[in-house]
Amino acid sequence: KLDSDQLIIDAGQKQFGATNCSSCGMVYSADIPEDNFQHTQFHQRFLDSIKYVGWKKERVVAEFWDGKIILVLPDDPKYAVKKAEDVRRIADNELGFQQVTLGRPTQAKTFLFINTDRLVVGCLVAEPIRQAYRVLEQPDRNKDMTKDDFMERHRAWCCSTVPEQALCGISRIWVFSLARRQGIATRMLDTVRSTFMYGSYLTKQEIAFSDPTPDGKLFATKYCNT
Ligand code: ACO
Ligand code: ZN
Repeated sequence: KLDSDQLIIDAGQKQFGATNCSSCGMVYSADIPEDNFQHTQFHQRFLDSIKYVGWKKERVVAEFWDGKIILVLPDDPKYAVKKAEDVRRIADNELGFQQVTLGRPTQAKTFLFINTDRLVVGCLVAEPIRQAYRVLEQPDRNKDMTKDDFMERHRAWCCSTVPEQALCGISRIWVFSLARRQGIATRMLDTVRSTFMYGSYLTKQEIAFSDPTPDGKLFATKYCNT
């Protein structure tokens, strides 16, 4: 069970040295008052961003025993667009993306996974594209380097120079840290494939991930091979 009460209790635990909050992801020193204060503020903003109160009109595109997926489009009511932006900002922050602007904001489709405790635990932004560059396997020289010392910091994925046809670009995919490895990203992508273009189910080749992180690449590799 994962609800907002539990997340608030997590934040109140006293610890010494550097703490990595398992909910909001912030690293801070619990014994430094200023750090504590900053964390409390960030944590609260994080919670507010992922809290979902429910809307009169929501576009449910998939339902599961542990939650549902709603779709938010750029022309939706302000409160819906704002929620999508808030969650996207959380994701961007974790992905280390600097700017919050989308490639083609008017065409972006945001899919949000809402759990049964009314928290947005997943966010996927899909945009129509025409072509993409396939991410190639890592060159051998990177083999001995750990995730930490190379991939994390440089994100040096080698991309093919040959563009391939694609229809749907995944510009962001993010799952709340405490809700990972429960198939949420998989289900969001399956839903994108069935709803992105009216009347057709996109193949795995027709979707492309932009600038994947190490986590994103592991997930994408698994997803595309199954
Ligand atoms: N390490 C190894 N394999 C993984 C990982 C991982 N960190 N994450 C997913 N996989 C593989 C596994 O095989 C997994 O199946 P299993 O759990 O049965 O072994 C399979 O992918 C399916 O995983 P899901 O449960 O569907 O993925 P999840 O809901 O955990 O979300 C995601 C994956 C989105 C990458 C999540 O880890 C995350 O949000 N990470 C931080 C943000 C990030 O890096 N996002 C990707 C950026 S790239 C982009 O946005 C284009
Ligand atoms: Zn926190």
